[in-house]
Amino acid sequence: MSATLDAPRPAHGIPPSGPSPEESAALADFGGIEITDIDLSQPLSDADRDRVMRLFRAHPVLVFRGQSLTKDQQYAFTLHFGEIEGAHVNRLIDSKNYAPVHTVSNLDAEGNPSEVLRERGNYYWHSDKSYHAVPSLLTMLHAVELPPKGGETQFANTAKAYAALPDATKAEIAGLRAIHSWEASRIQCGGRPATPEQIAERPPVDHPLVRIHPDTGAKALYLGNHASHIVGWPKEDGQALLKRMIGHVSQGRFVYTHRWQQGDLVLWDNRCLVHRALPHEAMGVNRRVLHRTVVKGTVPY
Ligand code: OGA
Ligand code: MN
Repeated sequence: MSATLDAPRPAHGIPPSGPSPEESAALADFGGIEITDIDLSQPLSDADRDRVMRLFRAHPVLVFRGQSLTKDQQYAFTLHFGEIEGAHVNRLIDSKNYAPVHTVSNLDAEGNPSEVLRERGNYYWHSDKSYHAVPSLLTMLHAVELPPKGGETQFANTAKAYAALPDATKAEIAGLRAIHSWEASRIQCGGRPATPEQIAERPPVDHPLVRIHPDTGAKALYLGNHASHIVGWPKEDGQALLKRMIGHVSQGRFVYTHRWQQGDLVLWDNRCLVHRALPHEAMGVNRRVLHRTVVKGTVPY
């Protein structure tokens, strides 16, 4: 038996399913951009605001370096992009409130680092809130506490991936709609099963498998861990197609791996990418905490 097979399985149990950081593309090749000359903690001048909006329309990932924002400041910056969505109830088992600026972390209810991930779905390729009829426009994460090693965030550009498909595949998937649901998402990531209340709160929705980006007009695959099968197809066939498509989009050439630095604020366009967190070293010991805001989008077409 090989050494790899003999190696103990990490307690978090997240399977590797994509490129390593070394195998992924540079930020610019992915289509992203780094911005180092704006202080987002201060009210933006009209010129800076216009610049940020322009950059967001042209780049699926914006990486701001050297930032230090309070939750109130992150809230104010996020508002430039539209309506802020709260985290759903039960996102944190210790919180019963919707929170516009909430936390993504590997901390348990007592605030201690844990390998038992309650935000398990974040470690599987997904587009935020695609289980909603009106999914997210963008998500923003601001690094607060970072582990010494690992814990990167990966982004796969689903517009570039769509453009690279053979014409026969584009014809095969034209007009298809995928079913997305909270329940499927829980099952597919092996997390805590959805409760009957959660299923009732978020019944399945369907979205085009190929959506058009409202700003750029580009076609992009719209899929991920919340999507389970295809409308009008036998379940297994739909699952197999979605699996094949995720395999396509998660090739290194379409992926940017963000290695977090202190002071980073990263925002991304959920309409033309999927993303996931990578586990970090010794998750039971090392803390990873980021502040998150999400802006509501529009119905995909
Ligand atoms: C998210 C998410 C990934 C990460 O906040 O929506 O998927 O790297 N986060 O924490
Ligand atoms: Mn996410």
